[in-house]
Amino acid sequence: MPADRARLLLDCDPGHDDAVAIIVAAAFADVVGIVTVAGNAPLDRTTHNALVMRDLIGLDAPVHAGCERPLVAPPRHAGFVHGESGLDGAELPEPITPLDGTDGVEFIIDTCRSSEGVWLVPIGPLTNIGTAFRLAPDLPGRVAGVSLMGGGSFGNRSAVAEFNIWADPEAAAVVFDAYDPATPGSAAGPLIMAGLDVTHRFQVTPPRIAATRAVPGRLATTLADLFDFFTDTYLSRHDDGALDGAALHDPLAVLAVTHPELFGHVDRHVVVETRGEHTAGMTVIDERRLLERSDPNCRVLTTVDADAAFALVLDAVARCSTGG
Ligand code: RIB
Ligand code: CA
Repeated sequence: MPADRARLLLDCDPGHDDAVAIIVAAAFADVVGIVTVAGNAPLDRTTHNALVMRDLIGLDAPVHAGCERPLVAPPRHAGFVHGESGLDGAELPEPITPLDGTDGVEFIIDTCRSSEGVWLVPIGPLTNIGTAFRLAPDLPGRVAGVSLMGGGSFGNRSAVAEFNIWADPEAAAVVFDAYDPATPGSAAGPLIMAGLDVTHRFQVTPPRIAATRAVPGRLATTLADLFDFFTDTYLSRHDDGALDGAALHDPLAVLAVTHPELFGHVDRHVVVETRGEHTAGMTVIDERRLLERSDPNCRVLTTVDADAAFALVLDAVARCSTGG
């Protein structure tokens, strides 16, 4: 493993786009561990799917199961997008390598304390990370940063709330507040947010699915089948012409760490709404040009070189193909 690779702890809820994020992280970073969270599907399913992906790409990293329900909100899933299994659409082998642990929060705390400079990359609800920050207030200052998929200036589960934040607003608020200069003892960050404003610019179009299918090996075929399913469920819920393919959200949180040159960004103050009847789970991004605005706590990604990013996805698939 080249010494200059970023060390990532991936916190995920596989999930089709989570599965791609695991492949991209394995190809371009040093994955120190995967922790699963309830989100796209219940914890038992997201954990099962993470174990499947680990074996499928031959990744040498521990998998720990995390929290099975949000801090306060009721458990809510996204079977209408990812299927009841959380990873519908392809023939997937049963996992062989056993789960490494069932206290994912403890694994996060222990890992970040024993090996400073790890990137936390949460790409599901922030329940595990928020719980870890609450139990270990020293953690935000010990990690290299947080690069999360979530939020945005618009929503997908409501007009204003994106799923990962909406599913556990209280946990998300802990994470964003931990890097807010207005919070006493807050950490410097960086907190990077790959929200819907950038992820909707990264779509799995039919030519990209065909390019995936053309990569030799079983992994590519499996991924292309997953893309077909993901695209169908995604586009079926949108106006005709709204998108050319499903938004491939989660890999961008990984690429923001491994390939930051692909992105445009602005630094903004962002807080999470936890109480609004119509706005709970909203990331409130302060875009005012007023000098009185709050100091930024978040690097909000705004653009991505989508062709270059998808070329890296294809490269990652090729690198992770075990020839199976
Ligand atoms: O809103 C998109 C996010 O919700 C992605 O992380 C997807 O995997 C789901 O978890
Ligand atoms: Ca996810």
